[in-house]
Amino acid sequence: MIGRKPPMGWNSWNTFGSEISEQLIFEIADTMAEQGYQEAGYEYLVIDDCWAMKERSPEGNLIPDTQKFPHGMKAVADYVHSRGLKFGIYSCAGILTCAGYPSSYDHEFQDAKQFAEWGVDFLKYDFCNFPDNADCKNRYLIMSMALKASGRDILFSACNWGKEESWNWMRSIGAHMYRSTGDIFDNYRSFIGIFQSQMDHFCQSAPYCFNDIDMLTVGMYNQGNVAIGKPCTDSEYRVQFSLWCLAGAPLFIGADIRTIKPVMKELLQNRELIAIDQDEECRPPYLVSKRSVSVPEEDREHAVEPLRCVNDQLYTFMKQLSNHEFVIAYYNLFPEEQEILCTFADAGILYSSGYGFSMKDIFTGEELGNIRDYHRVTVPGHDCKLYRCRLVNFNEK
Ligand code: GLA
Repeated sequence: MIGRKPPMGWNSWNTFGSEISEQLIFEIADTMAEQGYQEAGYEYLVIDDCWAMKERSPEGNLIPDTQKFPHGMKAVADYVHSRGLKFGIYSCAGILTCAGYPSSYDHEFQDAKQFAEWGVDFLKYDFCNFPDNADCKNRYLIMSMALKASGRDILFSACNWGKEESWNWMRSIGAHMYRSTGDIFDNYRSFIGIFQSQMDHFCQSAPYCFNDIDMLTVGMYNQGNVAIGKPCTDSEYRVQFSLWCLAGAPLFIGADIRTIKPVMKELLQNRELIAIDQDEECRPPYLVSKRSVSVPEEDREHAVEPLRCVNDQLYTFMKQLSNHEFVIAYYNLFPEEQEILCTFADAGILYSSGYGFSMKDIFTGEELGNIRDYHRVTVPGHDCKLYRCRLVNFNEK
């Protein structure tokens, strides 16, 4: 069965855009297999837009760009499979893809069959150039059925940017993941805004169909195709990756993993964070508390310029994991250091119950010991602290 857990992999778009080739894909496959990514759970290697010729064949088939993929797509799929990975490709529900290549509207069954013949395991299905009078839900359903009929298990990654409240119906039409937002850009406000826009919808992620808040920009530092705005800092990337894991979102790396900074490779391969994303029970995070930093009027601009994100928030989340374990996660979206307090009663543990938590810092591995009643942390600006927790009974100590 495919799609039981949030899918994980690498996608070409964020760094490479149209600058893709079989050589690149081979090198990424090698890197995924040899540099620990595959072992950490990254499974799908996905080619995004711009892989096709501008015209279909006389029989109406999509043709891979002969310059970029001189040996054809089957050869690429074979190589990716030979490295123990799965192979993903891209098409679109409209007349043309977002970058203007032929797309699958009214070619759904033909294209799905073609993808299956090439050995495709994953289809990202975009929403550009969609005819005005066409029915969005129906067209995604048609491709879902075409994939089912293709004779191959192909994970359906629907990408309609949340149109028609995708979180309400994508599961019912058979998608395994669905983009719920517009595109991510490699800057802090973009990814915070995306996360905040979906905070009420993570409960609509569950086994076999997950809310997709877009490919990661972790480790890109404004190199590549989605660099707009201020480059992120290491701590901002920590915020991004851990939020995606708390959300139980699909994890698709967008950075060039052949040259990524070691500390970012370590972050993307952080076993504890990935375990949170991939937890058996697939529960959404619970917002324990939210507080806005009060900003003096004269500094107001600094905190709330026109943003897509609300950056003066302090969040405390709890995520329930399997085996009676929990994560408590603190986020300081404000640019300067803040103290955040978690009263355990807000996380369901009354003082009078006699229970508290044993807590371990997920980033440093430090054991905080057994803590009762409340926990207070200092979190630097644009940073986070996450703790893995177990219940402890203080009366039995
Ligand atoms: C849209 C999608 C992106 C990417 C591009 C490719 O913008 O949302 O993720 O696939 O198209 O053109």
